[in-house]
Amino acid sequence: MEKIDTLRDYGLFDALVPRYRSYPPANHFVDRVGQQNQENWLGMVPSGSDVSVYIHIPFCKRLCWFCACRTQGTRTLRPVDAYVEFLIKELWGVKKQLAPDVKVARLHLGGGTPTILSPGTMTLLLNEVFKAFPRSAQFEFSVEIDPTEASRDLLSTLIDHGLNRASLGVQDFAPRVQDAIGRPQSLEQTRDVIAFLRDKGITALNLDVLYGLPHQTVESFGQTLDHVIGLKPNRLAIYGYAHVPWMSKRQVMIKEADLPGSETRFALASMARARLQDTGFETIGIDHFATPRDGLSKVQASGQVRRNFQGYTDDQSQTLIGIGASAISKFPQGYLQNAVATSAYQNRITQTGLAAHKGYAMNGTDKLVGCIVEDLLCRFELNTAKLALDFPQGQSAVREICVLLVRQFPDVFFINQAGLKMHDWAQPLVRIIANVVDEFTATELSHSTAI
Ligand SMILES: C[S@@+](CC[C@H](N)C(=O)[O-])C[C@H]1O[C@@H](n2cnc3c(N)ncnc32)[C@H](O)[C@@H]1O
Ligand code: SF4
Repeated sequence: MEKIDTLRDYGLFDALVPRYRSYPPANHFVDRVGQQNQENWLGMVPSGSDVSVYIHIPFCKRLCWFCACRTQGTRTLRPVDAYVEFLIKELWGVKKQLAPDVKVARLHLGGGTPTILSPGTMTLLLNEVFKAFPRSAQFEFSVEIDPTEASRDLLSTLIDHGLNRASLGVQDFAPRVQDAIGRPQSLEQTRDVIAFLRDKGITALNLDVLYGLPHQTVESFGQTLDHVIGLKPNRLAIYGYAHVPWMSKRQVMIKEADLPGSETRFALASMARARLQDTGFETIGIDHFATPRDGLSKVQASGQVRRNFQGYTDDQSQTLIGIGASAISKFPQGYLQNAVATSAYQNRITQTGLAAHKGYAMNGTDKLVGCIVEDLLCRFELNTAKLALDFPQGQSAVREICVLLVRQFPDVFFINQAGLKMHDWAQPLVRIIANVVDEFTATELSHSTAI
């Protein structure tokens, strides 16, 4: 903790920087990259290759006040059932552009609350997914579950279709915190869903927890962590709560005066990290934890952790196809985002069968900087040896970035065999450092060093 003053001097408690789940972040996407790119890039996915598919379900029965996800409340299943018909049209619209023998290696249902679907509608959707995309040999199927909205029939339907990983939202178990974020959820409810899944053979379980919520103290959050550890997940995501009421209107229900200050947030995050490490979890990047035998820990050992829109992953696919309103696709050539509002998305699908409305086409410099940002966020290093192999034309850009970082953060990096490595104490600064690289690229590199 003696480094806290240095971290403060580097702006840890003031900086507002992106999470860098993509590079460039989604706020750099532009209108001129859209459906034409989507058709071209889908057509360029190599025949016989594996892709990952993400399907977004933007509906919830309850709307928790803290939530910044793209979702809307609904009391009935009518709009959900109608939306699933558009998802199916989009699946086939995408399929039409792809080589016929492309397979799905990873399927992830996220939201919103995918478990809001009725078993019948879920069966309809999954049957179409697997008709359009045969499963590859390494197939993994995961879903985000709200433990208060997860009927046993629906969970059984998912398991019957090959579900083998589940992610459950917890956030915090303290009643005072739950009241302040509009999300009641008991430990028993959560435990029951986990017991049901384990009983049916689903042992790969992730729990989402948040620090920085109203009324959280180190003591109360410690108790939540005790409960969470007692549920024996294989993975944990411990995210910092993002309070962005200008983007997510429902957050106005949360009183800013009840939020912990930035130094308490830091204490909460540090306590969680220490507690989980003491319990035997491996730390993955800035906010994930995994048991030593989990796939994320294995790819960490081999230096292959990746970062995507769900956070950290062991998924190595080159292509991620996002289906549904606001879903983002990733191709080696760049990113595409579907129309965000459900109605705009459905209109696009009706008109053309595809829904990309903006995106970003990567040039050589973007690809190089994307690798640097991913390296920093996943491994806290800048691997100059690997960059020299992958980007032989980019050596002067890499040198400029190294000089910039060492000059701006003199005591943060040391030199190792691979290149530059961050000291452990400095890891909380990694998003600030990625942002410095990002801004330098936008102002200096993009004009001078396109490779
Ligand atoms: C799609 S949501 C939750 C899935 C499911 N509907 C549930 O409620 O359990 C996925 C995760 O995003 C995280 N999340 C949502 N809003 C957030 C915010 N404002 N800041 C940080 N993380 C957030 C939460 O941890 C949440 O579990
Ligand atoms: S946390 Fe889950 S249930 Fe709550 S609003 Fe967000 S997506 Fe919906």
